[in-house]
Amino acid sequence: MSESHSDALVFFGATGDLAYKKIFPALQAMTKHGHLDVPVIGVAKAGWNLEQLRARARESVTQHGGLDPKAFDKLSALLRYVDGDYRDPATFRAVRGALGSAKRPAFYLAIPPALFALVVEQLVKSGCAPGARVVLEKPFGRDLASAQKLNRILLDTFEEKAIFRIDHYLGKSPVQNLVFFRFTNTFLDPFWNRNYVESVQITMAEAFGVQGRGAFYDATGAIRDVVQNHLLQILANLAMEAPARHDSESIRDEKVKVLKAIPTLDANDVVRGQFRGYRNEAGVAPDSQVETFAALKLEVNSWRWKGVPFYIRAGKSLPVTCTEVLVHMRRPPVVFSTCCSVPNHVRFRISPDVTIALGATVMDAEERMVGRPVELVASHHPEAGGMDAYERILGDAMKGDPTLFAREDYVEESWRIVDSVLKVNTPVFEYDPQTWGPGEADARITPPDGWQNPVVTA
Ligand code: BG6
Repeated sequence: MSESHSDALVFFGATGDLAYKKIFPALQAMTKHGHLDVPVIGVAKAGWNLEQLRARARESVTQHGGLDPKAFDKLSALLRYVDGDYRDPATFRAVRGALGSAKRPAFYLAIPPALFALVVEQLVKSGCAPGARVVLEKPFGRDLASAQKLNRILLDTFEEKAIFRIDHYLGKSPVQNLVFFRFTNTFLDPFWNRNYVESVQITMAEAFGVQGRGAFYDATGAIRDVVQNHLLQILANLAMEAPARHDSESIRDEKVKVLKAIPTLDANDVVRGQFRGYRNEAGVAPDSQVETFAALKLEVNSWRWKGVPFYIRAGKSLPVTCTEVLVHMRRPPVVFSTCCSVPNHVRFRISPDVTIALGATVMDAEERMVGRPVELVASHHPEAGGMDAYERILGDAMKGDPTLFAREDYVEESWRIVDSVLKVNTPVFEYDPQTWGPGEADARITPPDGWQNPVVTA
């Protein structure tokens, strides 16, 4: 273990949904790969003991990815548990006690953001903060003002380099691969700009609804849940310039520059939708105006992208589960423009399969001067494979590598972009489950060649 590696992991929210679905499986994978060999202290207020937490962890890994007996036993031996209220100083004294001789713990706050300030305050008062890192689950705040306030609270205690704001999309290798593919292939660069790109569309479709997270979702909505974070991260990876150096700050500088070039969204550039039946979900208000679908049009007013519209669409209860990017090129001028039914494109599929493909037009052998669209598939993996996003980001946080985390200025710029539309309450249009959102989205926020609905084959 290097000198900067965290020597304990404390995670708040240990009995919660995120721990069950993502954190325990990631911890098991980390022990399996030899990346976790320090005490892991779960904290929650559930009236549980360590054996109950171990049983929950076992059930979690069994349900999500499978039990690896050897790795799980190792994780189980590392586990500790502190039960208590986050308002009670005794809880944090118990955490301090459980840390033993650890000097560089990582505190992972897998809890609602409304509790972040309280937990940070208690960490300070109990003497847990010196030498520590703090890892924060998304959403980081709920608008620009609350994100700024949270940043102030955190930066009063921790240095920016000790703060890790999670966006698990950054831990997905196909999302990283957007940057890798762009900057390792010089053929792309001459046309990756306003001269050749006509428009960009990013779709994050989910065929399922709110999956028992009604109360959380109804306080959040699609824009806060996935647009402000996951989808703006994808956009930044598509639009950023090559960093001057390979270090984390140079990379994060370039991403912030992209966001700075995006004007604050106008209400006319957003259509919100809600699937029929959402209001009957447990935890959802019967008259909820929260969006389960959003379509947006953004501009990136940089030298490279000025004039190229970027479209983002995200929704629950859509026909498929798929995240995909389509970069449409301009059509050829005059004569040949009539021969191609669709423009060239570059397609990046992030999930469920991972694909990079280039769309071109070839002459149809049957009819002279009539084009036929074809796709040259550069790479295709039936499923994501490789390291899970949570395994990667938790490992990076413990190593102290901030590259895949949102920096203070990034997170504030991303909230600045969506802040005004969150406040104006634009209308919410209903749509039928398993359709592509409300018709108003197609009518008002329309890419030049229309939305391309991803097709997912089983
Ligand atoms: C989470 C959102 O951040 O990302 C969920 O809260 C969403 O609503 C999820 O379903 C999607 O992530 P993934 O990794 O399952 O595609």
